[in-house]
Amino acid sequence: MGGGPVIPLTLARVAEITGGRLHGEPDAVVTGEVVIDSRRAGPGGLFAAVPGERADGHDFAPAAVAAGAVAVLATRPVPVPSVLVADVPAALAALARFVVDSLPAVTVAGITGSSGKTTAKDLAAQLIERLGPTIAPAGSFNNEFGHPLTVLRADSSTRYLVLELSARGPGHIAYLCGIAPPRYGVVLNVGHAHAGEFGGLDQVARAKGELVEALPAGGAAILNADDPRVLAMAARTAARVVTFGVAPHAPASSHALQPTVQAADVRLDDLGRATFTLLTPEGRATVTLRLHGAHIVPDALAAAALARELGLSPAGIADGLSAAVARSRWRMEVHRRGDGVTIINDAYNANPESVRAAVAALGHLARDGRAFAVLGHMAELGAVSRASHEDVGEFAARADLAGLIAVGEEAAPILAGARRVRSWTGEALAVPDAAAALEALANQLKPGDVVLVKASRAAHLEGAAEQLIEEADR
Ligand SMILES: Nc1ncnc2c1ncn2[C@@H]1O[C@H](COP(=O)(O)OP(=O)(O)O)[C@@H](O)[C@H]1O
Ligand SMILES: [Mg+2]
Repeated sequence: MGGGPVIPLTLARVAEITGGRLHGEPDAVVTGEVVIDSRRAGPGGLFAAVPGERADGHDFAPAAVAAGAVAVLATRPVPVPSVLVADVPAALAALARFVVDSLPAVTVAGITGSSGKTTAKDLAAQLIERLGPTIAPAGSFNNEFGHPLTVLRADSSTRYLVLELSARGPGHIAYLCGIAPPRYGVVLNVGHAHAGEFGGLDQVARAKGELVEALPAGGAAILNADDPRVLAMAARTAARVVTFGVAPHAPASSHALQPTVQAADVRLDDLGRATFTLLTPEGRATVTLRLHGAHIVPDALAAAALARELGLSPAGIADGLSAAVARSRWRMEVHRRGDGVTIINDAYNANPESVRAAVAALGHLARDGRAFAVLGHMAELGAVSRASHEDVGEFAARADLAGLIAVGEEAAPILAGARRVRSWTGEALAVPDAAAALEALANQLKPGDVVLVKASRAAHLEGAAEQLIEEADR
């Protein structure tokens, strides 16, 4: 194809690319977005029917076509124009790969890691948009559905694809890399997220490293020098290795060991937002982040190192990072209520590293008041689940919280861990649900207090955080 738009695709072409059987008009043309949510189906689009948690997409095929979709990608017959395939994710993957291969001017970058993928992706996208038209997923649209659907939004005007790659097992990232082969790959960290499914941190590292294994010799692997398991991935790639890291307070003796992109003199303001000096081979610049928590700094450095590879100047990177906002919800959202109480809604998800990061930020924000943490359970930790909850509780007690509320039975070991810290004088409370946590906090909070709300997605604690935010106005 000679630079013209990739989509439109005729249904005949869709059938050919996916190996599907066409039931409909071969010359009908898909000109709009490919979606799996029938409510988002629009004129010229293609609706992919997948079984959801509550409903089967096939039941919504007529509604999607009524809303303007040209046809439905389906695994069983539907009473509207369709392309019948054996496997919808595989069909989406084939379509996405076709689109990428048709767009040689597009540069693909992938970001993976245990914590901070969405944050780093959102930061990177806000930098790379300065260089040209960029497509990045909304939120954590990063699995076998979200990944190809994001790629399918690219057209001939697109220059950059900034993708978030998630893995729940070996081979997942290699599969995603096959859909949109990355030239640049960023690995943030190797932590305990989904470690239960993997078996342990070394297995997590094996899986995350599939990203750098997929990179071509002409590309770059962008690795976190502060995480030994990530740095070790340098041996697994044909690509050039670029590193990033937070500079130690005492300068390292050997210059050769310095990361390519560094943050020096990291300071936090009273809301936990970092200011630092960005050091790059091309020069230095001051960055002041709008996102909260010291743990955002490595995410920002990852984004900086990627944008630098794509040609953004230190000044452009610093401006972009300083202007960048949180694009995805419920990650370290800090709200100061009218009555002087601060609520941190970090309820998007939780694993041991991200809870520690959030508790550290909580401690910082509550320097002049009391710190409370409402913690739900951390899912998918497997054999180390109990010990991980206890360790997080111990960490929280050492952070000298005034109150630690564990929500739900599975979170209870957090309190056992906290009690290991004999010197801790805070209050530990186990409650059955979010409502009970809110009740326990009611009438307790005073100006200057800070409350962190955090748990795995399944606990849905974001509602509790939002209620806490509104409470002062009632
Ligand atoms: N570098 C990091 N280290 C530890 N926790 C982090 C880091 N970056 C972000 N987090 C925290 O991890 C949680 C998930 O962040 P998110 O950006 O959605 O990551 P992911 O997409 O990998 O799940 C949030 O609570 C966030 O504050
Ligand atoms: Mg994510």
